[in-house]
Amino acid sequence: MTQDREWEFDYDEADFEAIRKRIRQAAGIQLGDSKRQMVYSRIVRRLRSLNLNSFQQYLFYLDDHPNEIELFINALTTNLTSFFREPHHFKALNQILLERYQGGGRALRIWCAAASTGEEPYSIAMTACQTFESLTPPVQILATDIDSQVLRTAQMGVYPESRIKDLDPTLKRAYLLRGKGDKSGMVRMRPELGRLIRFQRLNLLDRQWDVKPGLDVIFCRNVMIYFDKSTQMSLLDRMVPLLSDDGYYIAGHSETIDRNFRALRLVGKTLYQRQA
Ligand SMILES: C[S@@+](CC[C@H](N)C(=O)[O-])C[C@H]1O[C@@H](n2cnc3c(N)ncnc32)[C@H](O)[C@@H]1O
Repeated sequence: MTQDREWEFDYDEADFEAIRKRIRQAAGIQLGDSKRQMVYSRIVRRLRSLNLNSFQQYLFYLDDHPNEIELFINALTTNLTSFFREPHHFKALNQILLERYQGGGRALRIWCAAASTGEEPYSIAMTACQTFESLTPPVQILATDIDSQVLRTAQMGVYPESRIKDLDPTLKRAYLLRGKGDKSGMVRMRPELGRLIRFQRLNLLDRQWDVKPGLDVIFCRNVMIYFDKSTQMSLLDRMVPLLSDDGYYIAGHSETIDRNFRALRLVGKTLYQRQA
């Protein structure tokens, strides 16, 4: 890439290639050629805060400081999400919860495998509360993400009102608390929702996951798209055995699973069920 004189730091093709190799190794994330500018603007912030003078220096720094890798990953993830994104999945969840609980027994377990800033696990929690008409529904949610920064936001459960402008007013009244004084313009998730969720940093690329089998539902939405085909398949191979025999796997809108992957069968819109 030709260097742009307006840019604060030199940034050439080799820098971009080295960075995309590192993020692929660390997080499985594949960055296309169109992401050159995005990589520059995100990594430049790390250079500034570390007082470094070049991308090369940063890459050496990354090699010498294992703790930097977490911040490097945080800088390059894409965390786009929203409350009740792809609403049909939450309608399906309501049915799944009713069908699987049937009046008693164990708590239902849901893994939200790319929780980002928390809108997805809180939408799951709200759906569970509505389904069981209770703030203590028999549901446990594990919400994980590789990005430690977004998980901190998720854990706080505080959002600008603009994030909830399209949320059903009934849900707003039931599950959100409005900020007052210096918190005005912000909303907070009711603490009861937070109690249903355990937040945990988890890199899907790690060889071992701290996730117990017997899950009723896995939400794995809009993260597989960042991985190459073989990573996607090997993650599916590891996720499906974590589901109970007829548990459900929910994918993002553009993440259809190959028909030849026999362990899951399509039962709805990007909604899959485990089959023997
Ligand atoms: C576009 S967001 C999707 C959020 C949410 N699932 C949704 O559909 O609205 C993708 C999330 O995947 C996370 N992610 C990327 N690579 C990951 C990895 N290797 N392990 C776990 N999470 C990862 C990112 O940090 C980001 O928060």
